[in-house]
Amino acid sequence: MNNTPDGSPSSRGLSAVAPKEGGGFPNPGLPPHVPRQADLSKVAEKRAERIVATMFLLSVVGTVVFIAAYFVVTPTGMNIFAEEGSPSALWWSNLVTGLGFAAAMFFIGAAAVHWAKTLMPDDEMVEERHDIRSSDETREAAVGIITDGLEESGIARRPLIVTAMVASLVALPIAVLAPLSTLGPLPGNKLHHTFWGQHPRQRLARDHDGTPIKLSDVALNSIFHVMPEGLNHETPHLLEERAKAAAVIVRIDPALSKNEQSASMGVEGVLAFSKICTHVGCPVALYEQQTHHMLCPCHQSTFDVTDGAKVIFGPAHRPLPQLPIEVDDEGYLVAPGDFTEPIGPSFWNIHKDKPMSDAPKDK
Ligand code: FES
Repeated sequence: MNNTPDGSPSSRGLSAVAPKEGGGFPNPGLPPHVPRQADLSKVAEKRAERIVATMFLLSVVGTVVFIAAYFVVTPTGMNIFAEEGSPSALWWSNLVTGLGFAAAMFFIGAAAVHWAKTLMPDDEMVEERHDIRSSDETREAAVGIITDGLEESGIARRPLIVTAMVASLVALPIAVLAPLSTLGPLPGNKLHHTFWGQHPRQRLARDHDGTPIKLSDVALNSIFHVMPEGLNHETPHLLEERAKAAAVIVRIDPALSKNEQSASMGVEGVLAFSKICTHVGCPVALYEQQTHHMLCPCHQSTFDVTDGAKVIFGPAHRPLPQLPIEVDDEGYLVAPGDFTEPIGPSFWNIHKDKPMSDAPKDK
C-alpha cells in the first residue's frame, strides 16, 4: 500500500471501490448488452436454426446406426464387416456401436449448446432478492392445505391402513437383501488356515517341479518359492489351496536377525514366509540380497526379513505371516503347522484375531 508523506495510507487507486455514504458499495451495474449475429440478422438467425436442427438430426442418425449395428455387426452372430465369431468381428461391433452411440450423445449436447449460445435470449436480468420467509397468510394457507389433505385421505381415522402401509415400506428393503442369501456359503474358517495346517509336517517343495528341499540346498542369501510337497493335482480346490499355501524361504546370516521370535521359527537362518502380500494379495516375489528386504511389485510394500518380515515401506499394514519350519530325519525342511496368522490382505478383525495355528479347523 502507498503511504502519504505523513505516513497515513493513500487512497489513490481505491476510488472505484470507495464505500458510499451510509456504508456499502455503489452498484457497479451490468456491462452493456452486445447483440449477437442472430439478434441482428434474420439470415443469421435462420442459419443458426438450421445448424441446431442438423445436429439434432445427426444425433438421430447416430442412434439409428447404433441400433442397426447392434443387430447386424454383432461380435458372435451376424456381422457384415467380418467373419462371424472372429476377433475382428468383436472389433467391428465395438467400433460401430460405439461410434453410433457417441454420435447420438455428442450431437444432442452440441445442438443444445449451440441453440443456447445463438438463439436463446441472452439478456442479463436482475431480480431483487425477496424475503425467504413466506407471509403469515401464505404459511397458514399451506398448513390448511396439508390439514385438509390429511383429513380427506382419512389417515387419522384408518390406523389399520397406516400400520399396513408402514409394514409394507419396512418389508420392501428386505426384498433387496434376500438375493444376498444366494451368494454362496460363508467362508467359515477357510480364511484362517491353509494346506500347511491341515496336513502338518509337510516337506517344503520347490514350486512347480515339486521336489522337496533339504536344509543343505539353501545357500546363504538365496530364495526359494515353495509349496507343500503333498499339494498335487488330486487335492480338492487345488488352485485355491496353492494360492493360500504359497511361501518363500530365504537364508540369512543368523547374526543379522533382529527378531528372536522370528529367528526361532527358522532353522540356521532359513526363514519361511507367506508369499501373499498383506496389502491386497500380490505375490511378494522380489528379494534384495544386500538389504534382506522382500518387495511386492504391485505397490512397493517392503518387508524386512531380518525383523520378522515387518513392513518398512508401502501400504501393507502387517508383516508377512511366518511359516515355522524344522528339519526332518533325512535333512528335509518341514513345516510342523500353519502360518503364524491368516495370510493375505487383512479382513474383519484379523489384527486382534488368534494366531492361525490356534484357529479351529474347518468342518
Ligand atoms: S499388493 Fe503388495 S503392496 Fe499392494
